Amino acid sequence: MKRGIRSYVLRQGRTTPAQQRALDQLSASYGIAYRQEILRPEEIFGRQAPLVLEIGSGMGDTTARIAADQPGTDFIAIEVHGPGVGSLLQRIRKDELKNLRIIRHDAAEVLEHMIADGALAGLHLFFPDPWPKKRHHKRRLVQPEFAALAARKLAPGGYLHAATDWPEYAVQMAEVFNAEPLIARAAEAKARPITKFEQRGVNLGHEVRDLVYRRR
Ligand SMILES: C[S@@+](CC[C@H](N)C(=O)[O-])C[C@H]1O[C@@H](n2cnc3c(N)ncnc32)[C@H](O)[C@@H]1O
Repeated sequence: MKRGIRSYVLRQGRTTPAQQRALDQLSASYGIAYRQEILRPEEIFGRQAPLVLEIGSGMGDTTARIAADQPGTDFIAIEVHGPGVGSLLQRIRKDELKNLRIIRHDAAEVLEHMIADGALAGLHLFFPDPWPKKRHHKRRLVQPEFAALAARKLAPGGYLHAATDWPEYAVQMAEVFNAEPLIARAAEAKARPITKFEQRGVNLGHEVRDLVYRRR
């Protein structure tokens, strides 16, 4: 997937000293460096287990909770925002999570270059940046090319779970995912803990939509 336009703008938000320390000291243990080479999860986690990827883990609280709740599954979080990556690194160490690692890089490139086709049991996309202004819609992650890439990376029966509090983006997501022939809308709902960004939306009265698809 070649996209000149990125789905994020890196703002140098405040990185706390603790986050910076985590970035400096814990990346080697709990981070995975980006490189254009297919990952071998069994080498990273030291076992064979279902692999779930999360795109845009933000501060990572929900990511860590999900990993703690599902010890039999391995998780890789992808996030570009330094403070968020630092926070999640701290959390992985504090909670001694053996089944969660993080990559600080553009998720579209990670999917394309580091994940084998058919390798994923699941893909989480919780509250991707909504880019509400029309002239910014082109930055939204969920576009036909992304849907095709994501679908290709799922194993048969693997799931894609997306959520948004932006109704018009939910419509776009449904249109884009419905048009992707490799995946089909699942009847089931999938439970997940509330996320930090979601809580902000809920406080503002936003309605949250979850969409679940499965690889055919
Ligand atoms: C609106 S926030 C939601 C964070 C979290 N999922 C939550 O619900 O609290 C979206 C996050 O996606 C990250 N992001 C956006 N585009 C990305 C990309 N292409 N690769 C990795 N992370 C990305 C942003 O840095 C941001 O932290």
